[in-house]
Amino acid sequence: MFFYWVKKMQSQDIFKIINNRRSIRKFTEKPISKEILEKILIAGQRAPFAFQGWSVVYTRKPEKMKLKIGVYPMTKVLMFFLLDLNIIEKIINQRGYDYDAEDANTMWLAIQDATLASENVILAAEAMGLGSVLLGATPKRYEEIREVFNLPTRVFPIVGLCLGYPDPEALMEVRPRYPLKYMAFEDEYKDPNEEEIKECMKAMDEGYKTQGYYIKNQAKIPLDEKFGEDKYDYDKYSWSEHDCICQITS
Ligand SMILES: Cc1cc2nc3c(=O)[nH]c(=O)nc-3n(C[C@H](O)[C@H](O)[C@H](O)COP(=O)(O)O)c2cc1C
Repeated sequence: MFFYWVKKMQSQDIFKIINNRRSIRKFTEKPISKEILEKILIAGQRAPFAFQGWSVVYTRKPEKMKLKIGVYPMTKVLMFFLLDLNIIEKIINQRGYDYDAEDANTMWLAIQDATLASENVILAAEAMGLGSVLLGATPKRYEEIREVFNLPTRVFPIVGLCLGYPDPEALMEVRPRYPLKYMAFEDEYKDPNEEEIKECMKAMDEGYKTQGYYIKNQAKIPLDEKFGEDKYDYDKYSWSEHDCICQITS
């Protein structure tokens, strides 16, 4: 009975952590201790892996955070999750085989390893009271990151992560998602029709508008005139317009 209760408590805890997590973009001055850092990195290592085709490089030094990938000011630790074929290549060589790391399948597996590890770190950080946000421009800036962190050729940065203690004044609500039925399918994929796409947009747009997200952050992206007239002021502007512009201009 006792163990059942402990197990039940633990599972409730993990759902609380997952369901309350949101990306954090403002941090306090409080540093992250070595012990906590090690704990969350070990949690990263506990992620499932295909062949441990990943590693992580991190820094606490502000001068190493001056990269053109939108690192948030006040970030206490900046991490990069890396596709890493270095160790496996050396193991293969020690066994006396040659290694063809150009194989796309190897790349996919290593990207999956790195991404799964990053999510474990994100959730473990959350459980320790930290906040985090990923940085997606990382692969585009791989040359700069490679130089700053001295990455060898078989190692490629997949995604960055800013970490720190959340600034309580800047805490946002959890962000909406598409309705589950458009993202989880039993037995076969269901291609959404136009009305269903509108429903997806509505769930996101109304969620962000209720939170006043774009107006609070003055985050409207002006539409480049090559895409036509900009018809969205802050009354109409929300997630679907924002993400369209991000996607068509990135
Ligand atoms: C691969 C990836 C790249 C991301 N890149 C950035 C980024 O460069 N800057 C940023 O502020 N947020 C970035 N994010 C965070 C997303 O904006 C955020 O996860 C999404 O809006 C959902 O919000 P939530 O994490 O608060 O639930 C990224 C997320 C992912 C998964």
